[in-house]
Amino acid sequence: MSTLTLEKSLEAFSAKFAVSAALTEEGKKFIPGGYSRSSFNFGPHAVYAESGDGAYIMTVDGHRLLDLNNNFTVNVLGHAHPAIESALVEAIPAGFSFGNPSLVEADLARILIERISSVEKVQFSCSATESCMSAIRVARAYTGRIKIAKFEGGYHGFSDMLHVSSHTMPGQGGSDADPQAVADSAGIPQTELENTIVLVQNDLAGTDRILRENARDIACLILELQSGAGGLVTLDEEFVLALRALTTELGIVLIVDETISLRAGYHGLQGVYGVTPDLTVMGKIIGGGMPLGALGGSKAVMRVLENGQVSISGTHHGHRLALVAGAACMNTMDADAFERLNRHSNRIMKELNEWSHARGSRLTIYGKGFSHMAYGYMTEPGLMVRNHRDYWHNVDGEKTQILSLELAIRGFFPVHRGEFSLSLPMTDDDITSFIEALKQIVTELES
Ligand SMILES: Cc1ncc(COP(=O)(O)O)c(C=O)c1O
Repeated sequence: MSTLTLEKSLEAFSAKFAVSAALTEEGKKFIPGGYSRSSFNFGPHAVYAESGDGAYIMTVDGHRLLDLNNNFTVNVLGHAHPAIESALVEAIPAGFSFGNPSLVEADLARILIERISSVEKVQFSCSATESCMSAIRVARAYTGRIKIAKFEGGYHGFSDMLHVSSHTMPGQGGSDADPQAVADSAGIPQTELENTIVLVQNDLAGTDRILRENARDIACLILELQSGAGGLVTLDEEFVLALRALTTELGIVLIVDETISLRAGYHGLQGVYGVTPDLTVMGKIIGGGMPLGALGGSKAVMRVLENGQVSISGTHHGHRLALVAGAACMNTMDADAFERLNRHSNRIMKELNEWSHARGSRLTIYGKGFSHMAYGYMTEPGLMVRNHRDYWHNVDGEKTQILSLELAIRGFFPVHRGEFSLSLPMTDDDITSFIEALKQIVTELES
């Protein structure tokens, strides 16, 4: 009989973060659910942070936690990084908001264009949700087609058109061979579902068949090379390269959503795969902790924005402070910085998977080997997650939740569903302590 149970871990979590629990209740008086982002939930309630410093956060409950959430992968440089802080402090006295463009907009666009070879032009917004919406509009205008193809488990923001089949639950979404669009929220019109073609990750035969059958209507295929918010799934390289060839053949715009995966390397995850999409969505790290999204793409496709065919306009698009923070962050993220993060990532994956394998444990660390990964407690030793539906069969949700709660109790703050990301200020000792904590929790779970 394990010494750890969900009930005990929930109790210990709420006792340790009692001030956060009380603040959540207080917040509910004014805000639906207590806070404006349901993803703040960490099981029974959120953990409120008072401040962040480097790789750590201080919670209102007085605990210092190694931040493995990093605002869902945003904080690649950790908290209050001096380069970002000084860039913002310098920029603030000149004013915050203008109906004029700023010099730094082209600077950050140039940085992204120099690094991501498929990107020849960039348009900024305030979030990746918005830039995904822009990508769809651009693709529809460019092709004259309406339908969107996306993967079940792929998350591309919360717009009506894309908040579809990101979190499909068991019993929903049709059969494995014939996946059907499912709204992720009430209030999404049926027409959006009719316009969405859903595919299964890493299933080339099925994807090929469905795309060919609907090719005349499909404007774009949008995908994450490694998904996050819908559950971490890594697409195989051969699968992605085959999709590039297929979409080119069928005249479908290929959109790679690199909102999270830009932290994979200096040239993004598309650089690692060697794939050249038509459009790329960027977010998270490019704003250095400020709200910023971007759509990049080839000159040919982005021309519909240039010639005025497509109209996109937001009051805060090209916000100077977000661009200043973003440029400081991206300039700090040189090739060595990505390599350091990936070295830590590979160490975590290797050491924990080898340890787990040797003892016949069900712990699996999965991901492409860059600084956004997941841990899962599987239903059988050695199982992996190859598509969204594997979460239904292969991952023991309750035990994975225990891992998350116990990590928080022991001084680590991952994403509750089992994902985690690294930040540059993390030291070898931080990584060692995380590895040892997970080993200890799993040992107790299996004792
Ligand atoms: C791959 C991906 N695309 C789009 C989004 C939406 O980004 P935002 O929350 O900045 O609107 C997210 C957010 O997590 C994401 O992970």
